[in-house]
Amino acid sequence: MELKKVGVLGCGLMGSGIAQVAATAGFDITVLEVEQKYLEKGFAAIEKSLAKFAEKGTLKESLDAVRGRLKGTTNNQDLADCDIVIEAIIENLEAKKKMYASLDGIVKKEAIFASNTSSISITELLTSTKRPDRFVGLHFFNPVPLMKLVEVVRTIATSDEVYESAYEFAKKLGKVPVRTSDKTGFIVNRLLVPYLLDAIRAYEEGVGSIEDIDISMKLGCGYPMGPFTLLDFVGLDTTYYITQVMFDEFKERRFASPPLLKRLVMAGWYGRKTGKGFYDYTDPSNPKANKL
Ligand code: 3HC
Repeated sequence: MELKKVGVLGCGLMGSGIAQVAATAGFDITVLEVEQKYLEKGFAAIEKSLAKFAEKGTLKESLDAVRGRLKGTTNNQDLADCDIVIEAIIENLEAKKKMYASLDGIVKKEAIFASNTSSISITELLTSTKRPDRFVGLHFFNPVPLMKLVEVVRTIATSDEVYESAYEFAKKLGKVPVRTSDKTGFIVNRLLVPYLLDAIRAYEEGVGSIEDIDISMKLGCGYPMGPFTLLDFVGLDTTYYITQVMFDEFKERRFASPPLLKRLVMAGWYGRKTGKGFYDYTDPSNPKANKL
């Protein structure tokens, strides 16, 4: 099945990144948002990122050629003729199910529905549509324009044809797809989340300071970011949400949120996006660890 026209639901951090990558790869994109102002914010982020690639000379075409394939809309009907629709809206089960249900009767029947969810069950999402066999997970990583991996998630209901089309589509985006099944957290978060939570527990137990734990994992293991920098980058609210879904699924302590993570979230310290998390980003070029 050839996929040409791509719909992206949500123009936040992940949705705008997915739209940018797909437009750069030559696909026609329509991005759906609830309000024009969110489209404007997302398109501004795309412009900023594309400019960096253009500056480095790694864009194969002119900026205008890429821009010409990107369209924003607030009208669901504009997605009717998409071949694949990738959802990247707020990480909330009911909001996602409502979105899929409202689009199921509008988007053509042969189209594939995909979700970029990091933790919600793809099987639970597909129950809100009449196309269970045409439903997959396509899990991208932040920042989408730079991170090469896409987890392609299969459910027990996904047809072979749809799964292979989604896998090939991820390749055409210039990404490296991996095959995984619909178990909460898939591959990356199943391994990454316990590591991040262990870093918080190590800090709570006085093993080292926030900075020293970060430096240790960067220089001792060659990771691009230490765990606290990464937690602030991913968003503490997002991480906390993922831990809740994973703990609910597996009932294992390694997926349970440490008290400090919960308190940071309750205080509204979500990391970089709110200017405060494990670090303070008053000067974003020189974050300082908070006393926690
Ligand atoms: N678009 C285009 N270019 C960008 C960019 C973007 N969005 N963001 C950064 N860049 C460019 C920078 O301009 C810089 O270019 P230069 O080399 O010409 O100066 C280059 O990329 C490197 O950026 P930085 O110097 O700012 O910083 P780093 O060298 O540390 O690289 C990083 C940034 C790629 C984000 C790297 O730190 C990294 O890989 N971090 C780990 C990210 C990670 O683990 N992500 C996964 C999170 S988990 C997830 O998403 C799953 C979810 O379910 C929770």
